[in-house]
Amino acid sequence: PKPSADPPATTVKSYACQRRTPLKHHNTFLTDALEILAENAEFNENEGRSVAFRRSASVLKALPHVVRGMDDLKNLPCLGEHSVRVIKEILEDGTSSEVESTRQSEQYQAMKALTGVFGVGVKSADRWFREGLRRPLDLIHTGQKLNLAQQAGVQYYNDLNRPVTKREAVAISHIVEKAVNAVLSGAIITLMGGFRRGKEVGHDVDFLITHLEEGAEEGLMPKVLNWLEEQGLLLYQKTTRNSYLESKDGPARPPHNLDRFERCFSIFKLEKGKEGSGTSLNTSYDSGTTEGITGTTEQPGPSWRAVRVDLVVSPFSQFAFATLGWTGSKLFERELRRWAGQEKGMSLSSHALYDSKQRYLRANSEEEIFAHLGLEYIPPSERNA
Ligand code: CTP
Ligand code: MN
Ligand code: MN
Ligand code: MN
Repeated sequence: PKPSADPPATTVKSYACQRRTPLKHHNTFLTDALEILAENAEFNENEGRSVAFRRSASVLKALPHVVRGMDDLKNLPCLGEHSVRVIKEILEDGTSSEVESTRQSEQYQAMKALTGVFGVGVKSADRWFREGLRRPLDLIHTGQKLNLAQQAGVQYYNDLNRPVTKREAVAISHIVEKAVNAVLSGAIITLMGGFRRGKEVGHDVDFLITHLEEGAEEGLMPKVLNWLEEQGLLLYQKTTRNSYLESKDGPARPPHNLDRFERCFSIFKLEKGKEGSGTSLNTSYDSGTTEGITGTTEQPGPSWRAVRVDLVVSPFSQFAFATLGWTGSKLFERELRRWAGQEKGMSLSSHALYDSKQRYLRANSEEEIFAHLGLEYIPPSERNA
């Protein structure tokens, strides 16, 4: 076949939520490079730059072929001048000097290592970097004041930076089902995030919990957490309201939703071998606080590992929005909200969709939300933007 002499009219839509993006694509050699630059921009708190690189990478993920030359980039949306320069360098020289020097830079490496600690964000990592810290262990050696999340992050650093397998995610699902069923019958538990999109590994396991009977889910989270703690299955947990509730630019919403949408960032203790059996002999924990590290003297050994788990409870009326919002990818979500706002004058969140006249648009499925937004339905496995 003739290479790119007569390039096929590959039309790529400009919003990621208008395109199908499979998990495995043809241009990893380019997207990995662009995503290093995106990550580095995040470390420098340059969000605009970071999003620009992520959008460029995402366009290449949606292509049905390998990019072999600059001609293949013709008519593609979202490719800014900087991204094009990086791509050109890689196509011509095999590597990009900017990407390689970023990858090797002390700042990038330290920020990567420090933000790799659960509970450590870019701001703290940057402050520590400027104080001369480079590795997670430096936090201990220099006696930094750490919050409970960060303490757990350091304690379980190795486990939490080891990918969670699909098999482990299924084992965690069984534990979560057992916990939820123990405190409320008839709840629906759905695996979200990367695993719902078909990933084989993840950095955590995400669950959305709801109940057909509106209101039955209220107060569920603390009960589930108590059950898990009693079984010795929780190493850390922190329950918070959805950040949506605090966002100033969120849409108007009924006040009765205010306390209903809870999420929990947690670390589970997963027994190896007898995965899913649901019990552990180690039950030392502090039940008196809403945030706590349990079993602080324990270290992951041959018999168990620590796994990051996110739990979200949604009332059934918001379940479709919560499902769409927690499936990801992060860029896909961002693009959905941007599409809603910029193209439709609507406002989309994990709770609701409001039209340009601030009218609430009901939806019982993800398909209905895409339809409200005037978008073709994209299944979860094609949302890997
Ligand atoms: N999410 C969110 N608010 C957060 C964290 C995550 O709404 N503070 C949503 C994201 O928008 C995403 C989903 O939760 O849709 C899953 O996020 P995350 O677990 O961080 O990423 P995954 O896509 O699951 O990838 P990974 O395998 O790395 O976990
Ligand atoms: Mn393909
Ligand atoms: Mn996840
Ligand atoms: Mn998550």
